[in-house]
Amino acid sequence: ITDALIDPFGRKIDYLRISVTDRCDFRCTYCMDEDASFLSREHILSLEEIVHVAKTFIAMGTKHIRITGGEPLVRKNVLWALEQIANTEGLEELTITTNGSQLSKMAKDLLNAGVSRINISLDTLKRDRFLALTRKDKFQQVIDGIEVASQLPFKRVKINAVMLKNHNDDELYDLAKFSLDRNMDISFIEEMPLGAISDHNRAETYLSSDDVIDQLSQHYSLTPSDIKTGGPTRYYHVDGSSHKIGVISPHSHNFCDTCNRIRLTVEGRLLLCLGNEHSKDLKSVIRNTSPNSGALESAIIEALALKPQQHHFNLDEAPQILRFMSATGG
Ligand code: GTP
Ligand code: 5AD
Ligand code: SF4
Repeated sequence: ITDALIDPFGRKIDYLRISVTDRCDFRCTYCMDEDASFLSREHILSLEEIVHVAKTFIAMGTKHIRITGGEPLVRKNVLWALEQIANTEGLEELTITTNGSQLSKMAKDLLNAGVSRINISLDTLKRDRFLALTRKDKFQQVIDGIEVASQLPFKRVKINAVMLKNHNDDELYDLAKFSLDRNMDISFIEEMPLGAISDHNRAETYLSSDDVIDQLSQHYSLTPSDIKTGGPTRYYHVDGSSHKIGVISPHSHNFCDTCNRIRLTVEGRLLLCLGNEHSKDLKSVIRNTSPNSGALESAIIEALALKPQQHHFNLDEAPQILRFMSATGG
């Protein structure tokens, strides 16, 4: 059964990303509208159901689980679920992606629950710009959270910055320096057209990873690295630092041929690709069959056969995928 998770293109799928809530205490302009609405309780998986799905995946060969949102740390009792998942035999790492707003009070609990790596989203170091981008005045709270997390003995803490031309690209070096100075890696992300949003034009703000690396090369001596952390980031070694700068380039350097991951959405759909809608409803399988019947395992194997070869993101068209990033956690 451990070889069950291979897709039709021969890719081994050993990485599951689980969105535990679509709710978020921020309203990032490139992610959602200010008046975004959220799913009600009965439409989302309970934490017990999430843990059941996670354990089933681990038994089938999943090695890495990343918890995402929305903002995963605003889900009540999420630490309980993290601990259950982290302690499941067979899992090699449990990681989390967060906006950082809850970290000053929760980072220690995450470490104790068994989370080994944290990725924190931070697109700017300027308070007024942070307010404009996230629509919430919580810059200092995030910085405090980063300071706390970066001093705890996690295997790694990484910053993720979505780069937007004429919005934050003048901060490339400052963001990189901020991260390296605090013993963190950083990834610069090309924005993806997920969900129709109103206050933000994605074609106008596109900045390619090649431009990012060109600009940073004026400050650092960068050498491409073959280090892989299981995600799509291409890393560069920074001369004089033990930390790395990475880029995530869905537009300029497609990485779909090495895709190793699928996603569990907040409403219990197994989503086979971030840039396509191919999915399987696992919530109804869980709710309508008995836990040991093998029905969930069969549904997962059937779903894997639906995994498409790649995404077809196009910034010059209206978004083809109307689902927002916050329902799938990126
Ligand atoms: P690690 O390498 O484990 O640190 O994780 P990561 O950097 O891949 O994960 P993270 O959750 O920090 O995601 C960073 C960005 O990568 C997010 O914007 C994701 O949407 C994007 N990303 C992750 N996986 C995929 C993928 O399969 N396809 C696309 N297009 N983007 C992805
Ligand atoms: N394109 C790229 N990244 C995005 N994120 C949210 N929306 C988008 C988008 N449309 C990022 C967040 C966070 C990560 C999980 O995904 O900023 O760093
Ligand atoms: Fe929240 Fe992350 Fe979306 Fe920002 S990008 S609104 S922090 S889910």
